[in-house]
Amino acid sequence: MTKRWISQRKQDGYYKLAKKAGYRSRSAYKLKQINDRYNVISSGDTVVDLGCAPGGWLQVAWDIVGPGGTVLGVDIQRIDNLEGVRFIRGDVTKTKTLEEILSLISKADVVLSDMSPNITGHYSMDHAKSVGLAESALEIAKKILREDGNFVVKVFQGDLFEDYFRTIKSNFSFTKAHSPKASRKQSSEIYIIAKGFKG
Ligand SMILES: C[S@@+](CC[C@H](N)C(=O)[O-])C[C@H]1O[C@@H](n2cnc3c(N)ncnc32)[C@H](O)[C@@H]1O
Repeated sequence: MTKRWISQRKQDGYYKLAKKAGYRSRSAYKLKQINDRYNVISSGDTVVDLGCAPGGWLQVAWDIVGPGGTVLGVDIQRIDNLEGVRFIRGDVTKTKTLEEILSLISKADVVLSDMSPNITGHYSMDHAKSVGLAESALEIAKKILREDGNFVVKVFQGDLFEDYFRTIKSNFSFTKAHSPKASRKQSSEIYIIAKGFKG
């Protein structure tokens, strides 16, 4: 993190809002905006959040599902405990992690993935790694989502995007590529909203 990056972050409106509201990340606003628009998570849902650290999306999901719902986060990085939320420390590309998820929940209503690879600065490499993570997220979603369940996944845009999007389209009845207002203007990230898993 350079001094410039730190000072830019402090001037960022969503960063300030997140700090004030007690969210662990400014990304929390991306999920809020996505849910306000596409209604992917409902009260009482079981939500699995892949790549959940430090936990902003977990906080938002937990608020939406309420006391009758379940939220399970997965990340290779540790997170500070969040009351009510379950957590698995694991790599989504490993079969063992899927087994651990299935040992805690039988079916999910919603699978989220805000996973990002370690950024190298080489655009095509970062894009390819992001699509690789998005593919792992889709594989997990296909195994744990109930029929008609919803999936939200982040992907860095690039030449592999269309193929990936096509695969999503064949598995869900509604799909949309969407950039929430809280995404930084210079970011290449885009979120795919996929509803109505065909099973
Ligand atoms: C942008 S952060 C997620 C922020 C989160 N949505 C929030 O609101 O706090 C991306 C996360 O993806 C995780 N990640 C990257 N590769 C992963 C993998 N193979 N398995 C699990 N998590 C991974 C990173 O450790 C990082 O915490």
